[in-house]
Amino acid sequence: MYVHIVYAHPSTESFTHAVLVAFMRGLFEARHSHTVSDLYAMSFNPELGLAEYEREHNYHNAAPVPDDVVAEQDKLNAADVWAFIYPVWWTDCPAKLKGWFDRVWTVGFAYHPQTVEQAKKAIVICTAGHTVEHLRETGCYQAMETVMLTDRIYDRAKAKEFIVLGGSEALSGRAWEQQRHEHLVTARDKGRWL
Ligand SMILES: Cc1cc2nc3c(=O)[nH]c(=O)nc-3n(C[C@H](O)[C@H](O)[C@H](O)COP(=O)(O)O)c2cc1C
Repeated sequence: MYVHIVYAHPSTESFTHAVLVAFMRGLFEARHSHTVSDLYAMSFNPELGLAEYEREHNYHNAAPVPDDVVAEQDKLNAADVWAFIYPVWWTDCPAKLKGWFDRVWTVGFAYHPQTVEQAKKAIVICTAGHTVEHLRETGCYQAMETVMLTDRIYDRAKAKEFIVLGGSEALSGRAWEQQRHEHLVTARDKGRWL
């Protein structure tokens, strides 16, 4: 299968980057091909400007869509599977990725009418400082899952999966080393068994 990854983290030294690498290793092992939109590396502009806002606000499907947005839409249309990999920042994705949705989910592509090629699957893998147990207890996990899968992905993908690899700040020492290792195995397996 052909997988398009939308990745948002500024540091190649981060745990989230290690998750990206593990996921891509899994894809490689299963002989899936992939492309990556590395939003920081490509200096993706996350700001919905006035002209784009007016296009959305007034449902002006005929108004032009910026080239960088068309390029992202083409990558999604070409892929069977979409993967989103990012750290949880303030119980959401980084602003860079939020802005990607603001700009790439245009009227006439994502909605009114929805013309995007439906993906076979969308998989969301995010890293978090809190443990998954804590995020579930506070309701943050459910909130993030709802926003990503029910609103942003919606029926634009046939199957949807939301995974949080948590604990990077709640755990320390050997406990985190063990957890980190297990998370990287999970990320690789998710790439291997799409
Ligand atoms: C600005 C900022 C906001 C964060 N907000 C949250 C949060 O709301 N919930 C959470 O569990 N972790 C939060 N974290 C922790 C990150 O999710 C965690 O550091 C990351 O997933 C893994 O580290 P990495 O940056 O090495 O990839 C936050 C981190 C930063 C820098």
